[in-house]
Amino acid sequence: MCGIVGYSGKGDAYLSVYKGLCRLEYRGYDSAGIAYPEKGDFVIIKDKGRVSSVLDRDFKCGSGTVIGHTRWATHGTPSAENAHPHRVGSVCIVHNGIIENYASLREMLTEKGYTFLSQTDTEVACALISMYYDLLHDPIKALAVAARLFTGSFALCIIFKEYPERIYALRKESPLLIVPSDGFTVICSDLTVPDFDFDSYYIPESGEIAVLDNGKTEFYDFSGKNIEKMAVSGSFKGDVHVSAGYGSYMEKEIYQQPQVLYKLFSESEEKYEKIKKLFYNVNAVHMIACGTAYHAALTASGFFERVSGIPAYCHLASEFRYGEFIPDDNGMNIVISQSGETADTIAAMRYLQKNGRKVIGVVNVPSSTVDREADLTLLTEAGPEFAVASTKAFTAQVALLMRVAFFISRDSKKPGQYLSTLVKTVKDAVFNALENSEYIYNVASVMSRNSDSFYIGRRTDYALACEGSLKLKEITYIHSEALAAGELKHGTLSLINDGTPVIAIITEETVKDKTASNLEEVMARGGEVFCIAREKDMPDCVKPGNRVILPDIPFPTTVFTASAVLQLIALKSAVLLGRDVDKPRNLAKSVTVE
Ligand code: F6R
Repeated sequence: MCGIVGYSGKGDAYLSVYKGLCRLEYRGYDSAGIAYPEKGDFVIIKDKGRVSSVLDRDFKCGSGTVIGHTRWATHGTPSAENAHPHRVGSVCIVHNGIIENYASLREMLTEKGYTFLSQTDTEVACALISMYYDLLHDPIKALAVAARLFTGSFALCIIFKEYPERIYALRKESPLLIVPSDGFTVICSDLTVPDFDFDSYYIPESGEIAVLDNGKTEFYDFSGKNIEKMAVSGSFKGDVHVSAGYGSYMEKEIYQQPQVLYKLFSESEEKYEKIKKLFYNVNAVHMIACGTAYHAALTASGFFERVSGIPAYCHLASEFRYGEFIPDDNGMNIVISQSGETADTIAAMRYLQKNGRKVIGVVNVPSSTVDREADLTLLTEAGPEFAVASTKAFTAQVALLMRVAFFISRDSKKPGQYLSTLVKTVKDAVFNALENSEYIYNVASVMSRNSDSFYIGRRTDYALACEGSLKLKEITYIHSEALAAGELKHGTLSLINDGTPVIAIITEETVKDKTASNLEEVMARGGEVFCIAREKDMPDCVKPGNRVILPDIPFPTTVFTASAVLQLIALKSAVLLGRDVDKPRNLAKSVTVE
């Protein structure tokens, strides 16, 4: 996590960095800061808080070299001391990632007389670079030596007092991109940062050093050797503004779903042709992801099995990577990630590849690490997601996995039947489900007045329950649990009290009676029962005001209508509680640490 941005060259460097930091805030927003060289020294402005409260947008700094940072705390609490940039001697740096061996480096540097103002690994990295710079008097040599001593993952932007027109950068694993333009260059954690048109950019690889100098960029490896590097073609065409009429990015992204889903289901099969060879003879599919992306795998997996005829297993990437399980040669592995930068997901992918297995990436962000390193990528193309809570990326992941199932199906009749209904219904159905606001508001107002809540469902609806519950706790801070409905009586029922809200989801007709019985059990203990279902699947026991009725369209369209409703319940509850829905406390969008 953390976002870094640097600007070197002609133009308003400070304003560009300021705007870039605002766009990167989704990566972390507990502290912010910038630094620039001035009169043989550095000016550093930093503190805990959001970019707009720490920095003044209208400030004029007069330097063409500025580095900036927005932080998600890993080492040390959010505070002015721990905020980046950090400086030691002639060196000033910003950092995304974790220097894992910082404790031993700190001890060694302390013995040599260095003192530290913060608890961060970044200040230690800065001191080490400074020590080698004082010894070697050459930035590249100093960086190359220090980089070889760091373990962990890092993207660093560095300025040296003696080279005020340059930004140096180091990368190992954490994302870093360099976008050249006319007379200036921007370095940043992702491509949402540049506020100008571009058609190419550089991707420093792990183990490379970059030097930005007045619109020119040079590259070196960690032994200090100069290397040639080609820019890759590409641009960023995302809309980074909250549109009029929406209260937040999250709301906007929820309402973008009808279009995103329609596009995914109606696009031609061409995109899927490339996976044909990989699925030849496949006897099992392993889906690996974290958080909401894992829930997308869970949500799609039952349907995937039913349509493709191939068993599908879901794994949490953060667990999978430490296990000893390697799917056999006839298994196909799919990693799913909105950002394509989630450390655990990347580690799981690399673990499989190291063991000779092929990995398909299902990714939303083009040019991200998963996109670049997977053996083959299928882009969800949901457009950039800025709210920390994932919404449209989740539904796009589910939809794309369904399309993979259609494509590889061993029963040639099934896909057509499902796909044509989805294409015909999904857009209007999701839109209509979102319009059901009176009942959604009713659920949200009860949720926002309770400190605990439960979500239940069976099979696909259990997966949706997991996602609905995660969404709620993520942005409201209300405690919530999701349960497979049949599991309630195996322990958790003891937590149901008078008025405890329990939301059931029913999108699959086949399990509706069983879930209805579980709701009766909740009501018998005083729980306040809600249900999201089509009218014909709605259990009689649910009070009229507690029913959120989905459009009468068959499964699996119901998966998308129900998930949109669950997202809106979380959003409305959070708004009622006055939460910052786009930037919930303690979280960041891109989890680049383990
Ligand atoms: C929750 C959320 C997270 C992410 C998880 C994986 O709303 O967004 O749980 O789903 O951190 O992120 P990606 O998909 O970028 O790998």
